[in-house]
Amino acid sequence: MTVGILLVGGFGTRLSPLTSKTPKPMLPVANLPVTEHQLLVAKAAGITKVVLATAYLAETFTPYFGDGSKWGMELKYALETEPLGTGGAIRNAAELIFDEIAENEPIVVFNGDVLSRHNLAAQIKLHQSSSACVTLHLVSVEDARPYGCVPFDETGRVTDFLEKMDNPITNTINAGCYVFSPQVVQEIELGKVVSVEREVFPELLKARKVVQAFVDNSYWLDMGTPKALLKGSQDYVGSRDFIVGENSNISESAKISGASAIGNNVTIGANVEIISSIVRDGAIISEGSKLESVFVESNATVARQTHAKGAYLAGGEIIDLKL
Ligand code: GTP
Repeated sequence: MTVGILLVGGFGTRLSPLTSKTPKPMLPVANLPVTEHQLLVAKAAGITKVVLATAYLAETFTPYFGDGSKWGMELKYALETEPLGTGGAIRNAAELIFDEIAENEPIVVFNGDVLSRHNLAAQIKLHQSSSACVTLHLVSVEDARPYGCVPFDETGRVTDFLEKMDNPITNTINAGCYVFSPQVVQEIELGKVVSVEREVFPELLKARKVVQAFVDNSYWLDMGTPKALLKGSQDYVGSRDFIVGENSNISESAKISGASAIGNNVTIGANVEIISSIVRDGAIISEGSKLESVFVESNATVARQTHAKGAYLAGGEIIDLKL
């Protein structure tokens, strides 16, 4: 059996103001929180025991996910009073499962802001067959400059873990899903702020430990910005004009397109046009409004004849998202 840890405690500053009341992993992609998409991926790879490593707005996860039984999973919640960074969060969360796992049972860690359809079962298998201490999912991107890059040798061993640079030496980047051997997690100091990207991985390489690359270029998206969140939602809605949740009321004269996602209990008035947008539960879009690439907050009321593009709409406010 393999266990999982989901890192869901970051502030999500790049997604501000969408993350002022909702932590990034609870933001909806095609009407389901990002975390739910990730739990479904974990489950498909045979992982049924998962710890959510929470910090920022920690209290928002339990009411939605409960004990996980609705998904046929066992969920636990680790809480950091102060965010401990990615490494510190993994160590803190692992405290809840160390007693229950076998000596060599891998721990799969997911960055809570990634949508990925890579072959996780194959990544776990590679980890076991290569006797690595960590196996990293890497993806190839056209332009690696906005990311740190991760070079590896002909045997698939990672050789370096580099920060962002103007001329990246390779186009493979860290995709944010790691398989750890439990001993490596155990060695992270408990209760201390630690980053896996800046400290744990570079230190393992320095100590010549085996860090294995698992390259899989299936669908992958870091939904850490408003533009990426809208794209992710559209990708998951797919070729449909739109999807809509339960008990929503859409006027017959409204036009909705561009793979929009309309939540539950939403009211959409006459002659409204909505293109490529996310409308959260309980929102009211009044007649004649035209909205494109917008994110409408839960329970927001959008006034009549509102015209907005690339914006965040909440409580009567229209904030430009600079997409
Ligand atoms: P930005 O502030 O926009 O960079 O977003 P972020 O705070 O989420 O940081 P980043 O994208 O680097 O984090 C990657 C993943 O790790 C996200 O899923 C975060 O929720 C998670 N994460 C980052 N820092 C912490 C932390 O201190 N504790 C926990 N539990 N998770 C964290």
